[in-house]
Amino acid sequence: MSLEQKIGQLVQVEGAYGSLPDHLREAVVCGAVGSIINEVDPATLNELQRIAREESPHGIPLLIGRDVIHGFHTVFPIPLGMAASWNDTLVEQAARLSAWEAAQQGVNWTFSPMLDVSRDPRWGRIAESFGEDPLLTARLGAAMVRGYQNDTEHPLVSCLKHFVGYGACEAGKDYNTTNLPEIELRNVYLPPFEAAVRAGALTVMPSFSDLNGMPPSGNAWLLRDVLRGEWQFDGLVVSDWASISQLVVHGVAENEANAAAQAARAGVNMDMVSGAYAAHLAQLVEAGALNEQLVDELVLEVLRVKFAAGLFDAPVRVYHMATQTPAALALAQEVAEQSIVLLKNNDVLPLAIEGRVCLLGPLADQPYEQLGTWVFDGDVARSVTIREAFAATFGGRLSYDPVLETSRDRSQAGFDAAATLAWQSDVVVLALGEEAILSGEAHCRSDIQLPGAQSALVEHIAALGKPVIVAILAGRPLAISEVVERADALLYAWHPGSMAGTALLNVITGGVDASGRLPVTLPRRVGQVPIYYAHGHTGKPATPETVIHIDDIDPKAPQTSIGNTSFHLDVDPSPLFPFGFGLSYTTFEFHNLREEAVADDEAVAMAVDVINSGARAGVTVAQLYVRDLVASATRPVRELKAYERLTLEAGERRTLRFSISRDALSFHNGRAKVFEPGRFRIWVGEHAACGLSAEVLVE
Ligand code: GLC
Repeated sequence: MSLEQKIGQLVQVEGAYGSLPDHLREAVVCGAVGSIINEVDPATLNELQRIAREESPHGIPLLIGRDVIHGFHTVFPIPLGMAASWNDTLVEQAARLSAWEAAQQGVNWTFSPMLDVSRDPRWGRIAESFGEDPLLTARLGAAMVRGYQNDTEHPLVSCLKHFVGYGACEAGKDYNTTNLPEIELRNVYLPPFEAAVRAGALTVMPSFSDLNGMPPSGNAWLLRDVLRGEWQFDGLVVSDWASISQLVVHGVAENEANAAAQAARAGVNMDMVSGAYAAHLAQLVEAGALNEQLVDELVLEVLRVKFAAGLFDAPVRVYHMATQTPAALALAQEVAEQSIVLLKNNDVLPLAIEGRVCLLGPLADQPYEQLGTWVFDGDVARSVTIREAFAATFGGRLSYDPVLETSRDRSQAGFDAAATLAWQSDVVVLALGEEAILSGEAHCRSDIQLPGAQSALVEHIAALGKPVIVAILAGRPLAISEVVERADALLYAWHPGSMAGTALLNVITGGVDASGRLPVTLPRRVGQVPIYYAHGHTGKPATPETVIHIDDIDPKAPQTSIGNTSFHLDVDPSPLFPFGFGLSYTTFEFHNLREEAVADDEAVAMAVDVINSGARAGVTVAQLYVRDLVASATRPVRELKAYERLTLEAGERRTLRFSISRDALSFHNGRAKVFEPGRFRIWVGEHAACGLSAEVLVE
């Protein structure tokens, strides 16, 4: 291969959305392109791959990239919603189905899973994340990698993004500065990526953000020392959209040629659409500023991925429009059902289907909005809205009014008409939240209240005295304290995808148990952010004795008289709902937490008895948390180390055994990764603020 042809393999250009303009054809014919992004028309892709194989100088097929983030034509809940299922197997199945649909049309590379641990609901991209916890993110990320890549019939190369620490962008403002000490990177933000690399992920995407003074696209420590050196990653690194040329904007490269050199030296194999590699790499090599051997290494890693993706396999795949299957929608419904979190239930759910239901709210009949962010190829025609699902069940006993034009509508003009409908019904269901565009990339909020007049609508309807059920559809945690007080039942549905309506109806009427559990803490107000369960203990933790509300402080109180511990004067120090929380329609009890004999590779093993103490079958997620009581660096008050989703019949008892390895108890103390024997406290329960606990001594 000539130098130009090698460099062509490092170049990704944008497709022409179903057409094949001459410039694109020419670029492929002369081998100047190795990958195309955002082309999903099967006929165009058949022709592009034919040209690459038969007319280019080297016959190397193309990587065809697309953001298949939570489904392709069939749309699953946003990743934050999928995380609420705590169901690795189901998430893997969703990824496999997504790959099956996308690969039929010629897409062979997805920029998913997004593994950014996210602890700031102001950040729009929390919607794409698996939430605040490294273990949950790691397990679900690895599941998606398996789901995408392991179906040899319809593989989709996965891409781990955004490497790394993007979720900690200051003020929850997308693309903003990120400062994370190595101890935090290694204990919180890097582990999900390492787990997914070990699961076989073939590509990684550095983040846009400025991480500790060097954007990852130019960060050799991150891409060479950690990713390839420590983890032995041998796939390809693709820059995020034009982020190589943005090194100039960040101010770490004098010009685009320098930016190209810096990214290549740092180990970025492929330039996503910035044009910097195409424009400068050859001259840099010819001028002796860049070694051609470096280019060879970058190209070899791209070719390794193309071979692993089966692009050279015979027979040649012929692409066609993805087939629609009932099984796809059934799976989307199952994932949506398991993503819905029941947060409150004053015995109004499950809802009997005999009564008269009034359905209100701007999110009740929105086939597109319910899909959430990142649904380039979502087939809106497949959507079943909440109104459609309720109408099919309640028929003439259903009344409906959106009341508000959009979630941001501040008008209360429709409130009285809505109240009249509610008055004529036995129960009111309010579908509220945010449209898809209010979260996702670059869509961040400084305030996380329900937009518009939605809270006022809840207040107005609740005043009627009818049972009020609120379903929130949103791409982020919202501050919904007032809604919690006024609702008789509250469900957090995230953006549930194609089958939102059927899934919500099934959960509300008890067709399935309410089984979602929060993958992220719900704050009482934005001023608490960042608020997450795995926080530091501090030397002066708040206690009931030291917490005082701002209104209760004596104006003459001496300066040191209010406790001097870690809390805000004007809000309850606890979250609105803790990580891992969710109600079922039955109840579970945990008993007899005990230590068990350990095998050689175990640091500690715990057993616990779980009983379904209610009157109906149900689902819970048993969660095991650990605190390292004394260590060479401060450790979080709790860290999730294991979880198991289980279904028990009424009265059924099951013994669970949790095995915790030394590696699971190891941590980075700012100098090295260490395992330190000693005293640990262990909790097992249904969320991060409860559970049976025991102290164990680990040798
Ligand atoms: C975007 C996103 C990234 C996505 C890429 C391609 O800017 O940051 O997540 O995969 O560009 O669309």
